[in-house]
Amino acid sequence: MRRGSARLFRGTPSNLNLLAKVLRQGGLVGVPTETVYGLAADALDAEACARIYRAKGRPPTDPLIVHVLSGQEAEKIAYLNPAARRLADAFWPGPLTLVLEKRAEVPDIVTAGLGSVAVRVPAHGLFRRLLRVTGRPLAAPSANPFGYVSPTTAEHVRAGLGERIGHILDGGACSVGLESTIIDVRDPDRPRLLRPGAIAREQVETALGRKVGSGRTAGSARKAQRAPGMLKRHYSPRTPVTLHERLSTKDVKAGGKRDAWVFAARPKGVTGDNIFWLDPRGDLRGAARRLFALLRRLDAAGHSRIHLEKIPGRAGLAEALNDRLARAAARG
Ligand code: TXA
Ligand code: MG
Repeated sequence: MRRGSARLFRGTPSNLNLLAKVLRQGGLVGVPTETVYGLAADALDAEACARIYRAKGRPPTDPLIVHVLSGQEAEKIAYLNPAARRLADAFWPGPLTLVLEKRAEVPDIVTAGLGSVAVRVPAHGLFRRLLRVTGRPLAAPSANPFGYVSPTTAEHVRAGLGERIGHILDGGACSVGLESTIIDVRDPDRPRLLRPGAIAREQVETALGRKVGSGRTAGSARKAQRAPGMLKRHYSPRTPVTLHERLSTKDVKAGGKRDAWVFAARPKGVTGDNIFWLDPRGDLRGAARRLFALLRRLDAAGHSRIHLEKIPGRAGLAEALNDRLARAAARG
């Protein structure tokens, strides 16, 4: 992949001051979070947010997530009902995004004209320092060209957007590695999981004391209206991907020479330079941390096809991992 000209900045106090200034003047900065890297702009500056959509090639119908330092700060841009407060108390700061009734201060472009806004309080120390120095809520979608695999290192951001942005804050590799869990809690009687993530459905249900239904993010819901075929494709490598319930040595033997095989855990009885695994012992957190980097590496390696094995089970992180595996394999 072509390297862009964006500069990587370490988190020194003078660099943070410089990046905060870029943001306050309406510029874009690639930022680390515990989930994936984001492409940040001042969330209260409509022109700055328009630049996010342009840099990503993102359709204007797909709204952005706004990042703030605390639940109190969230109250300044959105209305939190008791169910939202309960989730905020349980999981913020952390990889949970809440869809809430928006306040008038939030520009329409951030929410794609919706009456709701998605808000998250991130846990990443360096990103929080940047938020504090900047003193503004920061809108930030994942820092990848629209439709491609989300970035989990600063180098990933530079590889995808380096020609379009000038500044990336380097906070190392993301500790979670999958995008945040998104919950719509506007109706406290019918909370809905819009995107599974590291905060598992069961954890949300325990915190709320009720079952959580499923739904779609605003972006995919609108795409569904326009073009049903595009519905699921997201986070996708360019190489064709096949998803398998289980992979075995038989599959590998029957496959082509340039196929890549990605097992959930290190397989027994099969080796080769086209054999990969998400985590040696099948640990789900390790798998989540590595998935996107591995997909990018395999995509760049010129395989004719990438075979992915589903994660066993459905609970906890398995739901989020299998969601991303299915999206990587979905055809546009
Ligand atoms: O972990 C994350 O959430 C990362 C980091 C950077 O915070 N961000 C992220 O943003 O994944 P993005 O834009 O790639 O995904 C946000 C999703 C989109 O699918 C969008 O449609 C949905 O959130 N969304 C945003 N606002 C919404 C709203 N008001 N109602 C429903 N869905 C919304
Ligand atoms: Mg994204």
